Amino acid sequence: MNDEDNRSRHWFGESGRGGFLHRSWMRAQGFTDEVFDGRPVIGICNTFSEFTPCNAHLRRLAESVKQGVWQAGGFPVEFPTMSLGETLLRPTAMLFRNLLSMDVEESLRGNPVDGTVLLTGCDKTTPGSIMGAASVDLPSLVVTGGPMLNGKFRGCDIGSGTAVWQFTQDVNAGRMSQQEYLAAESGMSRSNGHCMTMGTASTMACLTEAMGLSLPGSAAIPAVDSRRYATAQRAGQRIVEMVGEDLRLSRVVTEPAMRNAVVANAALGGSTNAVVHLLAIAGRVGLPLTLDDLDAISRDVPWLANLQPSGEYLMEDFYYAGGLPAVLAELTDLLDERAITVTGRGLVEAASGGERVPGTEVIHPRAEPLGLGAGTAVLHGNLAPNGAVVKQSAVSPELANHRGRALVFDSIEEYDAAVDDPELDVDADTVLVLRNSGPRGYPGMPEVGNLTIPRKLAERGVDDMVRISDARMSGTAYGTVILHVCPESAVGGPLALVRSGDRIELDVASRRLHLDVPDEEIARRRSERHPTPRQEERGWVKLYTEHVLQADQGCDLDFLVGSSGPTVARQSH
Ligand code: FES
Repeated sequence: MNDEDNRSRHWFGESGRGGFLHRSWMRAQGFTDEVFDGRPVIGICNTFSEFTPCNAHLRRLAESVKQGVWQAGGFPVEFPTMSLGETLLRPTAMLFRNLLSMDVEESLRGNPVDGTVLLTGCDKTTPGSIMGAASVDLPSLVVTGGPMLNGKFRGCDIGSGTAVWQFTQDVNAGRMSQQEYLAAESGMSRSNGHCMTMGTASTMACLTEAMGLSLPGSAAIPAVDSRRYATAQRAGQRIVEMVGEDLRLSRVVTEPAMRNAVVANAALGGSTNAVVHLLAIAGRVGLPLTLDDLDAISRDVPWLANLQPSGEYLMEDFYYAGGLPAVLAELTDLLDERAITVTGRGLVEAASGGERVPGTEVIHPRAEPLGLGAGTAVLHGNLAPNGAVVKQSAVSPELANHRGRALVFDSIEEYDAAVDDPELDVDADTVLVLRNSGPRGYPGMPEVGNLTIPRKLAERGVDDMVRISDARMSGTAYGTVILHVCPESAVGGPLALVRSGDRIELDVASRRLHLDVPDEEIARRRSERHPTPRQEERGWVKLYTEHVLQADQGCDLDFLVGSSGPTVARQSH
């Protein structure tokens, strides 16, 4: 693509009043004539925010990307976009993922951008940015912020999120004091970066690399490692070349690339949240990916990465052990060799260069997997006609095939009010059911599905139970937790009809989730159901609840699915 083809020429290359306006105000930042000479303009789309601690270092990282862009002869222009901090944002960051995607999409399309580097990190910032960029379809490259260093507490490594769930349970069971709990708080997050377990942020960083959208080998580099900054600089150099090659996002994110991302998720024991994000990204690119495809692709994939929350180690260890390329190198026969990466070369070629560092337990060799087909499984049955998901690597073997009595809660607040009650009618075999926590019901499908074990059972040493909901759970959480039940209860899914005392059957191996209540009785309950009308809503929440798709379609808004391309037909002046 020569300079005249760059879309930024339609701004900076204009003569007359238009060109005057477009260039003059940019000159206010001190740029010289050369930046308007037709060189590619690289939009550095930054999800930095101090309210998103995982992304708080991205402005520094942006400087490295800019260096690379300048070195390669491009013109870098950084701009902010909405940032979603998983830990602070209420009621849940997921409510705003699609809003972030709209921000990215319109900012890229409306500005003189020829190619983009997306700076992301915390859970929703990666898929939200990719979704937005996919709907514009410019050459795009993702630089994630990298994981934090390992957490430390009393000489032991502790993992983001995972340790919080563990320690909270220990406090409830009387095994840990409040003082110790507070001390652990400051030892867990001790550097820049996103959660360093294989939670959603690490999962999405790795899947983005597996999908070909990041430079090979970059996902696991710790946020504070100098090599992350070198990688960011390389990304800046490479995006300029990608503009020259017209290597658009849709040429990278293809069906084979999606398959490879799903294979990687299974091998990593990645987050269940990846399912909704991959489906949403596929929808933007126009790929026909379904929940059942995800299950089928994952079935025979060996689980190789021994990382929390399903395993033992953390992302820092993972990087030193070889990172994602070492995992993919074990799986080249399962990868689709048609997929390319932002380098323009094949993913399989990149994977072939990966190597496990010998003598570590972090990445298992193909011949000695931690499990087979241990990725996210998709369950069906009369309780989840359109599917539900479970992270098999996090399931307790004794609960994988289970029949128990339901104890139903209509909201997380109702559950939280009951969880410490010594009179709560619950035992270790009870199936805890939470509803009204789906995309439309909550709204935003929060990460509340990993219900805390009731205190009286925790005190007796019970550390896992079957839990079922239309919610999500944090990628850092674990347990026999059935999530994303679809359709959700708020739109009349069968979860709305379960009553405490009903029997529920779960069989993960046969992918079955069944409410053992006769069909006639279910029909009767449905006819008697009188859902409470929604409270008056306005603004984004109103738009979201009216248009959000169910989890089996990635929770995108119905009118955002697909792409409009990069063209804007009309002038601004
Ligand atoms: Fe940001 Fe975990 S809270 S990645």
